Amino acid sequence: MSLKLSASDQSMLAGKHGPAPQMALEILVRMAEVYSANELLDISGAHIDSTIYIGDAGLEYAERLAGLGARVAVPTTLNVSGLDEMRWQEWDVNRDWALAAQRQMAAYQSMGAIPTWTCAPYQTRWQPRFGQQIAWGESNAIVYANSVIGARTERYPDLLDICCAITGRAPAAGLHLAENRAGQLLLKLVEIPETLQQADDFYPVLGHLVGGIARDRIPVLDGIKATPTSDQHKAFGAAAASSGTVALYHMVGVTPEAPTLKSAFQGKEPEGTFEITIGDLRAARLELTSAQGELLDMVALGCPHFSIEEFMKLAALVAGKHAHPQVLFHITTNRLQFEKADRAGLIEPLRNFGARFTTDTCILATPMLNPEIKNLMTNSGKYAYYSPGMLKAEVSYGSLADCVRSAITGRVVLDDSIWDG
Ligand code: F3S
Repeated sequence: MSLKLSASDQSMLAGKHGPAPQMALEILVRMAEVYSANELLDISGAHIDSTIYIGDAGLEYAERLAGLGARVAVPTTLNVSGLDEMRWQEWDVNRDWALAAQRQMAAYQSMGAIPTWTCAPYQTRWQPRFGQQIAWGESNAIVYANSVIGARTERYPDLLDICCAITGRAPAAGLHLAENRAGQLLLKLVEIPETLQQADDFYPVLGHLVGGIARDRIPVLDGIKATPTSDQHKAFGAAAASSGTVALYHMVGVTPEAPTLKSAFQGKEPEGTFEITIGDLRAARLELTSAQGELLDMVALGCPHFSIEEFMKLAALVAGKHAHPQVLFHITTNRLQFEKADRAGLIEPLRNFGARFTTDTCILATPMLNPEIKNLMTNSGKYAYYSPGMLKAEVSYGSLADCVRSAITGRVVLDDSIWDG
C-alpha cells in the first residue's frame, strides 16, 4: 500500500518547515507503513508519554529534537516525568538520575508543550472532545480518551507521540477510523449486584478481568446498571490496559459510542461472547493480591493520578486518625490536582494523618522507593499488576477504606462483605 502525502506533508519532508518537522515526519512516514495507513490525517491534540526518563536514548532523542528547534503544532499535554521536581531529594532518587530526568523534562517543555506531568490529562481542562482526532501516549489515557470521551487515538508508543505533535499529523489507521471502533467481544455481566457495581473497588477488579479476556480486542460490556464516575472509568481502563492492551471499550448505555448493543458493534456480530459472574470477579480480585500475609510497609494510592474527588473521599476517611508510624502512606497526583486539594483545605489534614505526596511522576516511573519496602497495599489495579515485577514488592489489593484501615492498624485488613453478599 503506498502512502499518499498531502502537499503540506511533501513540503515538510523537503525541509521547508524546518529540520525538526522534517525529521518527525520522516519517522511518521516510516511508521505509517507499519500501521498500513494509506494517508496521514490532521490531529488537533497530543499527549506525550516519551517524557519518562528511562535512559540516555530517550534523553538524547528529546534533546536532539529540541536542539533542532522543535515546536508542537497542536495543544500538547505531557505525561508523568521521571522525577518529582519539588520533592525528589526527600526520597531515594540519585542525583545523576534526577539531573538527567530534569533535562528530559526541560527538552519537552522547550517544544511548547503544556507541563501537566500527568497520566490523567483527561481530568484536566485540556481534555479532548467527542470525535476529536488526537495522538495520545500512556495506556490508561488512551483507553479513557477513546472509550469515555469518544475522542480518537491509536496506541501511540513513546517517541512516535512527539512526532505527531510536532507535525500535527498521524497515520490514518486503527482507532482513528470509525469502522475500526466497532466492538469485537461481548462480555455480559450476569447477576452482578448493583451495590457492588456502585463501589469504587469493583472497577479495577472488573478491568483486570476484562483486560485478561479481551487482550488487544475491543470489549463491549453489557449489564452495567450503575453510572460509573470519571474515577471509576479511570480505574477500570487502567486495569484493563494493564492485564490486556485494551485501548477502547464500550459499556452499553454508558459510553458515548454504545447507546445500544447494536451500535456498540456497528451492527456486526461479536467474535466471541463471555459471561462475567460474581465468581469470576472474586477470582480476579484475588489475582490482584500477591502477598501471603498481613505485613504492610506502604500504602500506595493515586494510580492513575489522584483526582480532587479522590482527595475529598480520602480526607473524609482519615479525619481525626493517624497512620501507623511504620507504614508509608503515599499518594501520587499532579500539580494541578494537588493545588486544588490544597486550596480546598484537604492537604493539611492528610499530612496530619501521615500522608506523603508525590507530584509529576509515580512510584513506577522514578526510582524513589527504599528497596526495603516489600509489602505494599493499593486500591489501584494498575499498581497491583505492575508492582510485583517492577518494585519486587508483594501487593495486597483493597478498597480505599481498606487501605486507610490497614494503614492505621499497620497490617493488611480487608472488608470482604461487598464481595460476599
Ligand atoms: Fe500513572 Fe504511574 Fe499509574 S504513570 S497510571 S501513576 S503507573
